[in-house]
Amino acid sequence: MAEPLSEAEAANRLMRLAKEIARHDRLYHDADAPEISDADYDALVRENRELEARFPQLVRTDSPSKRLGAAPTSALAKVTHARPMLSLDNAFSAEEVEEFVARVKRFLNLPGDAFVAFTAEPKIDGLSCSLRYENGELVLAATRGDGTVGEDVTANVRTISDVPQQIANAPDVLEVRGEVYMSKAAFEALNERQEAAGGKIFANPRNAAAGSLRQKDPGITAARPLRFLAHGWGELSEPLGETQLDAMKRIEGFGIPVTDLLVRCDSVEEMLAHYRAIEKARADLPFDIDGIVYKVDRLDYQERLGQVARAPRWGLAHKFPAEKAETTLEAIDIQVGRTGKLTPVGRLTPVGVGGVIVANVTLHNRDEIERLGLRIGDRVRIQRAGDVIPQVVENLTRDEKREPYVFPDHCPECDSEAVAEEGEVDVRCTGGLICPAQRFERLRHFVSRGALDIEGLGEKSIAEFIELGWLNSPADIFRLHVHRAELVQREGWKEKSVDNLLAAIEAKRQPDGPRLLFGLGIRHVGIVTARDLLKCFGTIEELRRAALSEGGEEELSSVQGVGPVVAEAVHDFFHEPHNREVLDDLLSEVSPQPFVSDAKQTEWSGKTIVFTGSLETMSRDEAKAQAERLGARAAGSVSAKTDLVVAGPGAGSKLKKAEELGVRVIDEAEWARIVSALFSE
Ligand code: IVH
Repeated sequence: MAEPLSEAEAANRLMRLAKEIARHDRLYHDADAPEISDADYDALVRENRELEARFPQLVRTDSPSKRLGAAPTSALAKVTHARPMLSLDNAFSAEEVEEFVARVKRFLNLPGDAFVAFTAEPKIDGLSCSLRYENGELVLAATRGDGTVGEDVTANVRTISDVPQQIANAPDVLEVRGEVYMSKAAFEALNERQEAAGGKIFANPRNAAAGSLRQKDPGITAARPLRFLAHGWGELSEPLGETQLDAMKRIEGFGIPVTDLLVRCDSVEEMLAHYRAIEKARADLPFDIDGIVYKVDRLDYQERLGQVARAPRWGLAHKFPAEKAETTLEAIDIQVGRTGKLTPVGRLTPVGVGGVIVANVTLHNRDEIERLGLRIGDRVRIQRAGDVIPQVVENLTRDEKREPYVFPDHCPECDSEAVAEEGEVDVRCTGGLICPAQRFERLRHFVSRGALDIEGLGEKSIAEFIELGWLNSPADIFRLHVHRAELVQREGWKEKSVDNLLAAIEAKRQPDGPRLLFGLGIRHVGIVTARDLLKCFGTIEELRRAALSEGGEEELSSVQGVGPVVAEAVHDFFHEPHNREVLDDLLSEVSPQPFVSDAKQTEWSGKTIVFTGSLETMSRDEAKAQAERLGARAAGSVSAKTDLVVAGPGAGSKLKKAEELGVRVIDEAEWARIVSALFSE
């Protein structure tokens, strides 16, 4: 029960709260130097709200509750998506689109001339966002993040007028996915206002939309004219229709905007015609787009096609050609990456390309500089395609006589020799861990968003801790707490910032296994491969055991999604004693969580299945994909480790071997029964 307060006292308190909260807002947002904890701040906001509820006549014109539009989130909270938010494979030519359509038909085991309809719609250059409605109420809006975990932007999305707070006649659970974007006109107007106010100028509408959506203060989002267009869905308690087009019509019926440039195409020709028509209209569209997205229209086909890594087999982004511009190459700098690779970066006279100012380009490697005959001072043509890093496509000053560029043979950071191994284009620093650039990059990679994602441990702090001798390898991060007393005394640090950092580190003592593996920075092991490896081996220790065992490389190559190149890199990594020491040290500090696969847990989980002979109702790829969805592994050859062989007509030596080894053999029809029984559960 709140204490009794006279009206005069309440008015007085509300005035002080308005001032106090405004001051803390400035400290937090503008100076990035909060004086009070998030909880204390939230308590002030709550007190203000409660007093206003009791004395509505006293609500001030400068009330914090008005200014904020909604309660501010003190930091964007993380949310795990009910279903992962996928990305799309890209195509840049008509041939690639034709190949996509053929691939879809092959997977579905349909003849090449079979009829399969696709939808085609613009690819909006915004930020993907998932809106979750429960019983018709908007309960959550989340950014894509890494596809598995995004950020909670509900308070901000509630300020977007395209997004209804309530919808009628919707399924109990409905997740609508789409793009948050800013129109070209609104972007221009925003930048004009920002310029007048001396604020941040945004490079393009996409950045402006991102900066506006990922705000801690929904009041700021509310003042930015964001829009929303739906292009799909996530979790549903009941299907929305039988085809992509029907489902999108249904979403439109809920009052959520869907582009009117969405059409159904009955042939590749129609798909490409829609692509060309929209490309022509591109400049006149009110928002930025960077291509066309095609999707298989029948949803039962989409279901069968499933996904590879993080992209569905049933969708494709057909990108518009890259935009080009001409400028001068002013200098070539060499950057040393975490694997010691020397990457030349071209510094340019800044030039606008498709709405973005470009001042740097990657020159890839030594051979690329040679191929283009690049020298400092050359005129160059550069291009920028969507979110790809800009690159030089042509040297326009070929005939002039000038000193050729000499690629360094020593590391610019540690002066160790830099060499290209036989058959390799990349020149690498041989300094290993004595090279500060490599150490720095490895640690930076380890804490990066895709790996351990340790908030607050940025480049500056890493460099500072390396300098102090506190940080050499990843395990040292988890021992930084011993330096707490010293750190709070250092310039730029306060008790609160040190404690926040140490808490963020402690929060990662039980990291996600694949992220930890990815964070180790093994060559060719990205997050998807890390997941594939742990899907098979469960733990990093098991993976190491396999890599070090006799025939280990072969065992690794047989993992779905892992080829000989990855297998060799993993093998090499674990054979290097220093890497094993670094890993042991790290594992003495952290305990990775056991890997939970997104495949169904079934009696087939972890089993090995071999398909042989010809299959009649599905393609071999679909069969393999089904096995994986049951948690099993599809292998290419029969051995004592095989648990099941699915044999079609014409099965030969593999069937014979299975019979010899006493492995269970079934036919395609029985396999189909197993699959449909388990999927309908
Ligand atoms: S479909 C599973 N349709 O492009 C399918 N995506 O490169 C993924 N995007 O993350 C979404 N316009 O944010 C789809 N009409 C459209 C789109 C679209 C823009 C974005 C989306 C996605 C990214 C993939």
